[in-house]
Amino acid sequence: MKKLLSCLLLTLITGAAVAASPAPIAAERGMVVTAQQYATRIGVDVLKQGGNAIDAAVAVGYALAVVYPAAGNLGGGGFMTVMFADGRRAFIDFREKAPLAATANMFLDAQGNVVPDLSTRGHLAVAVPGTVAGLEYIRAKYGTRPLRTLIDPAIRLAERGFVLAQGDAEMLWEGSADFRKDAASAAIFLHAGKPWQPGDTLKQPDLARTLKLIRARGAPGFYQGETAAKLVAASRAGGGILSQADLDAYDVREMPPLECDYRGFRIVSAPPPSSGGVVICEILNVLEGYPLPDYGWGSARAIHVQIEAMRQAYIDRNQLLGDQRFVKNPVDQMLDKAYGARIRAGIDPQRAGISTKLVPGAGFNEGSHTTHYSIADSFGNAVAVTYTLNDWFGARVTAGGTGVLLNNEMDDFTAKVGVPNLYGLVQGENNRIEPGKRPLSSMAPTIVVKDRKPWMILGTPGGSRIITAVTLTLLNVIDYGMDLQEAVDAPRIHQQWLPEETYVEARALSADTRAILESMGHRLTVPQPENHVAAILIGAPALNAKPVGGNRFYGAIDPRRNTGLAAGY
Ligand code: DON
Repeated sequence: MKKLLSCLLLTLITGAAVAASPAPIAAERGMVVTAQQYATRIGVDVLKQGGNAIDAAVAVGYALAVVYPAAGNLGGGGFMTVMFADGRRAFIDFREKAPLAATANMFLDAQGNVVPDLSTRGHLAVAVPGTVAGLEYIRAKYGTRPLRTLIDPAIRLAERGFVLAQGDAEMLWEGSADFRKDAASAAIFLHAGKPWQPGDTLKQPDLARTLKLIRARGAPGFYQGETAAKLVAASRAGGGILSQADLDAYDVREMPPLECDYRGFRIVSAPPPSSGGVVICEILNVLEGYPLPDYGWGSARAIHVQIEAMRQAYIDRNQLLGDQRFVKNPVDQMLDKAYGARIRAGIDPQRAGISTKLVPGAGFNEGSHTTHYSIADSFGNAVAVTYTLNDWFGARVTAGGTGVLLNNEMDDFTAKVGVPNLYGLVQGENNRIEPGKRPLSSMAPTIVVKDRKPWMILGTPGGSRIITAVTLTLLNVIDYGMDLQEAVDAPRIHQQWLPEETYVEARALSADTRAILESMGHRLTVPQPENHVAAILIGAPALNAKPVGGNRFYGAIDPRRNTGLAAGY
């Protein structure tokens, strides 16, 4: 009886009694969460051998390019948010750039209409890749291990192959129809013209060779010489505009991350050319004024204010933001707590807003495939990386002889004002195509700081839905006291200004709550494809919980997709 009582007490303290999900994965010295199990294991091995979180991030970045070709990549780009043990933080932008020959109207026909698929499939959709430059930049500046040690596991997986699990095969099937149209892709991602099956071994000898050229020369092994020539030749043959001059001009940018405070926590996330951090912070600033825990998770009141905060933040995103080298972003105004309060004042507690009646920057004072991984090491460093080909398998074309799948990041630009892109985003002039410009992103590799130390590390793919998935996961942990796995698992909603409808995942709303929201004027619809959140919490599995044994690190991978692993040591 005594034992039962103390057990009950313990579960009450840790919160386990209310858990709706399995417990997060716990470990004592470090944690890696990625979208593919082999990549996670490679990252853990680097940490075990004394490498830091940056070393592990580089090794995982190269590994995912092999074992997670839908989004892991050499032919795409991304962002990294880092917090170092001494409290410093950095943001590394290795986003793709528009080729020098790109023009504002390159995806329009003679009548000025967007040509279907031109910005999403084939070589014209390809922006200048940044991943290899980015991984090499962070390795040289912040890593402690030689390139050979970090890239060799990826080379081995490409050369000897890896056995496809069910989820790996299912990912490949998403691209099958398009792979058939591109001989270089079909040669790798189809097996004698047929989809690969679970249990098959996928070998990628061309990709192994490309990785070896990087191992020999660093980033120039990709941007110059044999690989570069093949990338340019493939583009030319496929009607693209990528040139050697584009590869020569690619540059990585390092800048301070975008930061804001939410209920005493410091949110450290992605600045432009991502909208991720700005929009998360704008939404949080609005929500900070509401007693969300009192409203209760999933209550009509809470969902209503979340939808309205998202609605205004996305019109601001879509109309006001773009690459800061080309346009001025009103970030300070968007992050102003007073602006958050003015948006709040405009939210009718009883009625849904109407997207088409909103204006961007309302109340300013006058005057959319991707993968995310999170890593924490025993030294106190934390790394969040989101990188992407844009759509799963990008433009669905491979540069012949390189094994490199190419991105379709050009679709993140505004092809035409008022016309939705792949993620339904209706964007403005600030994000129009210009040579050398980076397309506006939603990627949001995020670190939350508590007591001056990294506390939570998270991010996700999902295009425009990245921002809301990260925000809701933060709310679940900070406002609703969920443990990390529950916070990741909990059903989500998403509103992005246009369309008017709010996307609702299955079981996110009870029938009663749905009826209340609809009576307030909300239009609700079925969800878009899922996110895939990869998150770490440091110290305990939930905000006010105790550590489980001697474990400091807690990891959770989103169960919405059938791949991925959280593991530590
Ligand atoms: O940068 C962006 O916002 C998009 N290219 C991200 C794409 C993405 O997340 C695809 N994921 N499923």
